[in-house]
Amino acid sequence: MVESYSKNANHNMRRPVVKEEVVAFMRREQKQVSGGLKELEDFARQENIPIIPHETVAYFRLLMETMQPKSILEIGTAIGFSALLMAEHAPDAKIVTLDRNPEMIGFAKENFAKYDTRQQITLVEGDAIDTLSTLEEIFDFVFMDSAKSKYIVFLPEVLKRVSVGGVIIMDDIFQGGDIAVPITEVRRSNRTIYRGLQRLFNAVLNHPDLTASLVPLGDGLLMIHKNAENIVLPD
Ligand SMILES: C[S@@+](CC[C@H](N)C(=O)[O-])C[C@H]1O[C@@H](n2cnc3c(N)ncnc32)[C@H](O)[C@@H]1O
Repeated sequence: MVESYSKNANHNMRRPVVKEEVVAFMRREQKQVSGGLKELEDFARQENIPIIPHETVAYFRLLMETMQPKSILEIGTAIGFSALLMAEHAPDAKIVTLDRNPEMIGFAKENFAKYDTRQQITLVEGDAIDTLSTLEEIFDFVFMDSAKSKYIVFLPEVLKRVSVGGVIIMDDIFQGGDIAVPITEVRRSNRTIYRGLQRLFNAVLNHPDLTASLVPLGDGLLMIHKNAENIVLPD
């Protein structure tokens, strides 16, 4: 039994931003995961733990195999599903993954001990606001999948640790479509996330030294390509 996620959690993840039948098609027709990943996917579904949906799995598989990143940072490990997926499809990559939830950290440790057979993954415990600045590596791929209102807060530290030519992906940036409507139409409890995401879009979508793309997979991905060494974000 998992304590961290109630049956009512992840409300926005159940509001697809693409037609439901298209989402169902993507989930049904694209190659399924197997082995340990399948076990973790089933567990996450049963316990309502918000791991990446299957259409994002299929996209990440292709991205890892074509990009073959050597050094990956993930913010938001949960039970370790996406980290293990990236490890499987980028076998030469070292992966650093950050999480602050003790319950999730417990599951991730067990799962990495069982399934990280090439010992690619290092789990760093604690709030990313504290742990990010302690990282010494430079990464060529970053997956941000933690508290959405904090993406804009973490981004300056992340950008310092990404090589020129590196890619950053942030998950769940559409918030079930909320980001496209005025704030008055957004539930009060979702407005902090809304404001954080609007600040993020203002900072990156038209930045001269970043190339950004919004991709409607799952609840939306924001993909960013870093084109220059020192990126200065607007306030
Ligand atoms: C959506 S889940 C990650 C799912 C995982 N990436 C996957 O697809 O398998 C989000 C995780 O981010 C963690 N998280 C949220 N805010 C964080 C923060 N400020 N620092 C570290 N971890 C954080 C939560 O504890 C949770 O385990």
